[in-house]
Amino acid sequence: MTRHLITSAIPYINGIKHLGNLVGSQLPADLFARYQRARGAEVLFLCATDEHGTPAELAAAKAGKPVAEYCAEMHAVQAEIAKGFALSFDHFGRSSSPQNHRLTQHFAGRLADAGLIREVSEKQMYSNADGRFLPDRYIEGTCPNCGYDRARGDQCENCTKQLDPTDLINPRSAISGSTDLEVRETKHLYLRQSALKDQLDAWIDSKSDWPVLTTSIARKWLHDGDGLQDRGITRDLDWGVPVKKGDQDWPGMEGKVFYVWFDAPIEYIACAAEWTQATGRPDAEWERWWRTDKGADDVRYTQFMGKDNVPFHTLSFPATILGSGEPWKLVDYIKSFNYLNYDGGQFSTSQGRGVFMDQALSILPADYWRWWLLSHAPESSDSEFTWENFQASVNKDLADVLGNFVSRITKFCRSKFGEALPEGGAWGEAEEKLVADLTARIREYEGFMDAIEVRKSAAALRAIWVAGNEYLQSVAPWTTVKTDPDRAAMQVRMGLNLVRLYAVLSAPFIPQAAARMLGAMNTLDTEWPGDVAAALQALPAGHAFSVPEVMFAKITDEEREDWQTRFAGIRT
Ligand code: MF3
Ligand code: ZN
Repeated sequence: MTRHLITSAIPYINGIKHLGNLVGSQLPADLFARYQRARGAEVLFLCATDEHGTPAELAAAKAGKPVAEYCAEMHAVQAEIAKGFALSFDHFGRSSSPQNHRLTQHFAGRLADAGLIREVSEKQMYSNADGRFLPDRYIEGTCPNCGYDRARGDQCENCTKQLDPTDLINPRSAISGSTDLEVRETKHLYLRQSALKDQLDAWIDSKSDWPVLTTSIARKWLHDGDGLQDRGITRDLDWGVPVKKGDQDWPGMEGKVFYVWFDAPIEYIACAAEWTQATGRPDAEWERWWRTDKGADDVRYTQFMGKDNVPFHTLSFPATILGSGEPWKLVDYIKSFNYLNYDGGQFSTSQGRGVFMDQALSILPADYWRWWLLSHAPESSDSEFTWENFQASVNKDLADVLGNFVSRITKFCRSKFGEALPEGGAWGEAEEKLVADLTARIREYEGFMDAIEVRKSAAALRAIWVAGNEYLQSVAPWTTVKTDPDRAAMQVRMGLNLVRLYAVLSAPFIPQAAARMLGAMNTLDTEWPGDVAAALQALPAGHAFSVPEVMFAKITDEEREDWQTRFAGIRT
């Protein structure tokens, strides 16, 4: 049996994510996890919150809370919303967990022992009033190039010039506004990624089946300009994983923490350890997924992420793994996504522009969003959410095609034969043709799902729904029943079996609707249709069912207009 380790990029702790974030990682990862489980594979699907770094500290300060408390609360909020979207994580962990602290320090120790870490002395701005070093982007001042007075220490937003904090005229702290700044000398650790360049290069080259989006970004960072740069992996912050070499102190590194991008991917591993602890499993269970010397050599590991995350997953994290010299599992396939735009612009967290996960759930059930987002996943290019398109897809695909099929056949059966599958009749030509057609379409759907071609999978699934509608339309049991009730009974049995089949096939996309369909068909049989003819006879004559409530309500023009105004955001 195949074993699939699946991770979604772990969302930052500060704030609730928008639909663009969701479709770029968690949602397609969930689609794949649900599909593999349905196919009988053993799956470990992990996600977590990414809790360290300056943005987390600042968000906590803004909320007037200690950062640990803020993170604990926001973790609970994000976990609840993930549940609302039916994201089927085996564990939703936290990068601030003790497991991640230990593993991050462990990796740093191994990398140091391998000679892959060097110490670098740097000059950095220190704010006396804030009592802390300031990261570049938290220093503001006047741009020496264009005179804009709110330029940031890393870049001027007005003229786009890249800056150093020391270039700024009249620099001040973006946190307190204080101008009492001084340059101080501070020591940091750098990961010698450059020493691993050839190894990484060969590894990326061996991945000929990866999406071009993934490999092209990796190659760009490996070969453009100066090539792979060594990377600072420590920061002068309070909140984070304290810099240690394994469990030993690191002289000169007191009071420093690891950079958030160093510890975040290690959380993929730590999360598995959190999972075993949370579920009372022995440690050997998580190592079975992560250590190739302890059973993970037959695991297939797939990561999901937005394109901005690709360099960290194709280069930095593999550098950590390879550099450790230990038999950790490397990723087998990286599925990356372009961006989803919102109604003529970008989603913007800071401007509140677009639909955020909690808002989405407050207006419509998860499946509506899941279906639209997945069937429009930004795979080969950026894609755009518009309310018109959302309304059209939901009304057509979900309400007219799938929902209508379910309601039509269940209601017809109830009115003519009662609430059990009717007896009589044998399959004829139309049914044989339907089986052949569906078999081909289901094999095609499986092919796209195996290849994680999200849009194509959605289109194939929709075509399977359409085939059922066409069958029903052409055999027309509501007409047959008048002349040949036996035959009509057989057609109706077929229709009700199609409802069960559709529930099984559609569950990875729309799990809540699928569960309602199975509930209405009064069955727990979720077996994947290897043999389609057999699958279409799973529910025998005499089997009781019920007519479900409306599956999908159509989105009205008034609703659409109302939402359009509500989520336009406060533009500045
Ligand atoms: N928090 C990051 C983001 O939202 C993703 C981190 S993924 C991991 O862009 F690799 F760090 F785990
Ligand atoms: Zn400027």
